[in-house]
Amino acid sequence: MFSPAFITLALFGVVGLCKVYEDVADLPTLRYDFVVVGGGTAGNVVANRLTENPNVSVLVLEAGPSNEGVLDSEVPFFMANLLTANAYNWNYTTTPQSGLNGRTIGYGSAHILGGGSAHSKYPVRTHITDGMVYSRGAQDDFDRYAALTGDEGWSWKQILPYFLKSEKWTPPEDQHDTQGQFDPSVHGRDGPISVSLTGFPWSELEGRVIQTTKELPDDFPFNLDMNSGQPLGIVYMQSTIGGGERSTSATGYLAPKFIQRPNLHVLLHAQVSKLVNVTQHQGKPGFGGVQFRYGTSLFVAEASKEIILSAGSIGTPQILLNSGVGDHTALEALGLPTVLDLPSVGQNASDHGFVGADWAVNSNQTIESITQNTTRFDQAFEQWNTSRTGPFVDALGTHIAWLRLAADSPAFETHADPSPGPGAPTSSKYPGGITGGVGHFVGFALAMVSPVSRGSVTLSSSDPFATPLIDPGLLADDFDMIALTEGVALIQKFLTAAAWNGYMARRRMSPRGAQHGVVDPDLTSRVLRPIVPGAHTQAATYAVAERGADLVKKRWTL
Ligand SMILES: Cc1cc2nc3c(=O)[nH]c(=O)nc-3n(C[C@H](O)[C@H](O)[C@H](O)COP(=O)(O)OP(=O)(O)OC[C@H]3O[C@@H](n4cnc5c(N)ncnc54)[C@H](O)[C@@H]3O)c2cc1C
Ligand SMILES: *[C@@H]1O[C@H](CO)[C@@H](O)[C@H](O)[C@H]1NC(C)=O
Ligand SMILES: *[C@@H]1O[C@H](CO)[C@@H](O)[C@H](O)[C@H]1NC(C)=O
Ligand SMILES: *[C@@H]1O[C@H](CO)[C@@H](O)[C@H](O)[C@H]1NC(C)=O
Ligand SMILES: *[C@@H]1O[C@H](CO)[C@@H](O)[C@H](O)[C@H]1NC(C)=O
Ligand SMILES: *[C@@H]1O[C@H](CO)[C@@H](O)[C@H](O)[C@H]1NC(C)=O
Ligand SMILES: *[C@@H]1O[C@H](CO)[C@@H](O)[C@H](O)[C@H]1NC(C)=O
Ligand SMILES: *[C@@H]1O[C@H](CO)[C@@H](O)[C@H](O)[C@H]1NC(C)=O
Repeated sequence: MFSPAFITLALFGVVGLCKVYEDVADLPTLRYDFVVVGGGTAGNVVANRLTENPNVSVLVLEAGPSNEGVLDSEVPFFMANLLTANAYNWNYTTTPQSGLNGRTIGYGSAHILGGGSAHSKYPVRTHITDGMVYSRGAQDDFDRYAALTGDEGWSWKQILPYFLKSEKWTPPEDQHDTQGQFDPSVHGRDGPISVSLTGFPWSELEGRVIQTTKELPDDFPFNLDMNSGQPLGIVYMQSTIGGGERSTSATGYLAPKFIQRPNLHVLLHAQVSKLVNVTQHQGKPGFGGVQFRYGTSLFVAEASKEIILSAGSIGTPQILLNSGVGDHTALEALGLPTVLDLPSVGQNASDHGFVGADWAVNSNQTIESITQNTTRFDQAFEQWNTSRTGPFVDALGTHIAWLRLAADSPAFETHADPSPGPGAPTSSKYPGGITGGVGHFVGFALAMVSPVSRGSVTLSSSDPFATPLIDPGLLADDFDMIALTEGVALIQKFLTAAAWNGYMARRRMSPRGAQHGVVDPDLTSRVLRPIVPGAHTQAATYAVAERGADLVKKRWTL
């Protein structure tokens, strides 16, 4: 018997009602109520929620290609493949980083429908992969946003319903007993984004991590669920994975039942240059159109109500600056007219830098036993391809530690505590399976989640399609360097637990380009908000976009 959902899908395929357009010539119109710029993590949420009202027309303009059938986006284990130079990557490079001895680093950024949720943005060459982590941040993060903005709507209490709205808690692929590994009371059941615990066992490693929480509970206490608003401690990994596949804003918020709405259109391969059709609204300038490039031609899509800028942490400031919204002096220097003098655009960028460290282990229950053995690799892929089970259903990490710097850390001599409060972490680390080198390893990724350093995104040219100057300011401030160095010491402390006796073979730190004795600083970054939440940022992006859509609907009584 066919389920209604199946019939819908079948009709959809046969009649070809697909509203994801590959060619601008097929688009029925260039006039919409709303134009969403960037079909990434946030953009697709807003497009979905606005088109719940059939009277509202929405166009999403996405520069990248479709996520459909992109194996490296579907198979969680393959995420790192997206980091090489390919059609799904903007291929950015940072400016020389003062905190990295003047080095530049690859700055992967998603160029695919679904954006960062369909893509891992780790720089090429890193051996650490942690994409798809689902972590909301601390109650303290959101209560600080509420205090800073004077809007209680951003408080933990009021944002939590939006986290739950976007989430669909999903059983793990190996069907293991999950009792004691998460708190069901803090998770959503009916949202578009699947979230699950890891779906393939790495029992040797997992057992030792949990044993460490019992041996060293003062430093590394076990915490049932990092998404309760109180993340501190050692927690089981939660990821945006469901049914063994990566769950993204494209697979979730643009799923067949949504994309078939006649009022929702998505155009791919459409790179937005700037906002046009300047208007005046209550004495303030506004824009009525979006200029974009498709192939070699320029087009304008008009928005009668609003333009939603959701082109990510690089694209959004770049488009604003191209449109004349930014620092007047800097715009003038490039010969660009100023529409609105707003010096903050592209400034105060902050990012989560991380370092990785591997330890060789006396075990063959490791990722390397798969990645370095073509027979097992092919078997694992076959298993994923036929049943969506096996080691490829996970994105590698098994647990996360959310930690704070010691209260007497020397870092606090140079800077006040940047974290939002005592319930929020300053750093995180991931014991997990990691690749790199020949042999068997356990790797740790140590991230600075409350960075003090700030950078910027600025224009390099008056050509709106030129690559902008990306300066994430990695380790620009000594505080971050001290904090990361202390974090490495914490990993060493973690490994002093008897649980690791006989398991760890030797340390393998690579001081490539490093200073101050820190391990290989393959740093990465992502978010250009004045203050990032002390967490991975996609969960917060979903919740903020959900509330953002509600605010737009309220404004237009939709
Ligand atoms: C290395 C790294 C690892 C990460 N890992 C995790 C993780 O494990 N867990 C987690 O929660 N978060 C993670 N994140 C963060 C997460 O990816 C982001 O928070 C999230 O994707 C931000 O959503 P967004 O909608 O703002 O931007 P994006 O998702 O990047 O979407 C922006 C979209 O706009 C498009 N676009 C850009 N410019 C234009 C233009 N001019 N015209 C048209 N389209 C344009 C892009 O192609 C893209 O599709 C990671 C980030 C990085 C850098
Ligand atoms: C859509 O518009 C029609 C006609 O103006 C109106 O009757 C209907 O209530 C609207 N629907 C919604 C969901 O707003
Ligand atoms: C990134 O580089 C690859 C390889 O050179 C290229 O094929 C791809 O088109 C580039 N991506 C973008 C968005 O330009
Ligand atoms: C918007 O600008 C474009 C070109 O810049 C122009 O073709 C179009 O007519 C303008 N639309 C309106 C409503 O002014
Ligand atoms: C950057 O942030 C600091 C602290 O919040 C603020 O004082 C400063 O004005 C900001 N700079 C810009 C250019 O917005
Ligand atoms: C893994 O190691 C065990 C002993 O530690 C050994 O018996 C087994 O053959 C090894 N398996 C593989 C695939 O190398
Ligand atoms: C590779 O994996 C196969 C299948 O598990 C195993 O028989 C073989 O011994 C492995 N090869 C090596 C070099 O470990
Ligand atoms: C995965 O399985 C499908 C059939 O279920 C097959 O068509 C496809 O070729 C397989 N993919 C690979 C890369 O083997």
